[in-house]
Amino acid sequence: MASSYEPAGVTDAPAAGAETEPTSLFLRACRGLPAERTPVWLLRQAGRYMPEYRAFRERHSMLELIHSPELAAEVTLLPVDAFGVDAAIVFSDILPPLVGMGLELEFVQGEGPVISNAISSPRDVDLLGTPPAEETMAGTLGAIALVRRELEPRDVPVIGFAGAPFTLASYAIEGGSSRDFSRTKAFMLSEPAAWRRLLTKLVTVQADYLLAQVRAGAEALQVFDSWAGRALGREDYLRYVAPANRDLYAATSEAGVPVINFSLGVSAYLGEAAACGGDVVGLDWALPLDEAWERVGFDRPVQGNLDPAALLAPWRELRHRIDDVLDRAGGRPGHVFNVGHGLVPQTPPDHVRHLVEHVRERTSS
Ligand code: CP3
Repeated sequence: MASSYEPAGVTDAPAAGAETEPTSLFLRACRGLPAERTPVWLLRQAGRYMPEYRAFRERHSMLELIHSPELAAEVTLLPVDAFGVDAAIVFSDILPPLVGMGLELEFVQGEGPVISNAISSPRDVDLLGTPPAEETMAGTLGAIALVRRELEPRDVPVIGFAGAPFTLASYAIEGGSSRDFSRTKAFMLSEPAAWRRLLTKLVTVQADYLLAQVRAGAEALQVFDSWAGRALGREDYLRYVAPANRDLYAATSEAGVPVINFSLGVSAYLGEAAACGGDVVGLDWALPLDEAWERVGFDRPVQGNLDPAALLAPWRELRHRIDDVLDRAGGRPGHVFNVGHGLVPQTPPDHVRHLVEHVRERTSS
């Protein structure tokens, strides 16, 4: 198959039209509709804990996998085939869209992502481009189309995703992962106008990318704001981040598919972070699920929120913690079972298998 993205004509129906009731468990829960049982998928479900994934990575770099529609589709399907999760998330990363803007990205073994020409001045911000996703992220869009074709007969939806403006800005400014986000915060506080221009450009690029993923076949979207909650107190969040998040969610609300707002580490201002937008609120593992759901409002579907470290515990303890999350969800419609942050590489694949089976059995009516 050509590696350029072709609008694949996956289906003649409009992408997951808001008027028709979805049949898949995951999409039903995302709309707050009753479902036969609780759907389950897991953040970073296709990753290094899977021997099959490590085999792909021995032969291909991270960016090779991401930019090949066929390889990315194969990796995306690994956990669906192995464990029967109820949704696929396209195999990619939040950072490759930065490359189209002019940043140089590498995934370095043992170190994670590295951006060699990080932003350090307002002029750097003004030099960033905002090209369309169809030009820069064709591999991921093609992978979504392939996965959709494969999973549509099984009624398993494919989720597209993007990073939120603060999280992406932090990588663009720090040049990689950071402990204290000091460069990012120094830039934000010393160059507030350039900061706003940077976030505006990121919103433009990410909104376009998310909508392109829906055109390619994504039936839900997730926005990852991994670091704003760790880096900023409430007042700074409201002043420097929330307006951009609101713009991003407003733009994606036109997509006609559910959007999951996953803001990590925001327990100090969960209500404010959730109020930025999105149909479903992704919960991290910091608060018990019922307490977090109450703060978000029980009328809003939620996703979460097992601590991924629980998968490192013996099965008895893991099962107890899965049951705790399910008990706190209390059988209300609108719960998607998930971990509250990505699975770690040490996770035993058998624990993932048992988790998925257990959620399925415990919640089947
Ligand atoms: O969830 C999935 O299965 C889909 C794929 C996915 C990846 N990254 C694959 C990946 C998704 C949704 C992401 C999102 C992502 N990437 C986030 C937001 C979620 C979060 O974890 O907070 C962030 C902050 C990143 C940035 C990133 N990518 C870092 C910091 C690292 C290095 C640390 C690490 O976990 O390896 C990555 C690399 C990465 N992204 C890997 C995978 C499978 C490991 C790469 C490898 O094979 O070596």
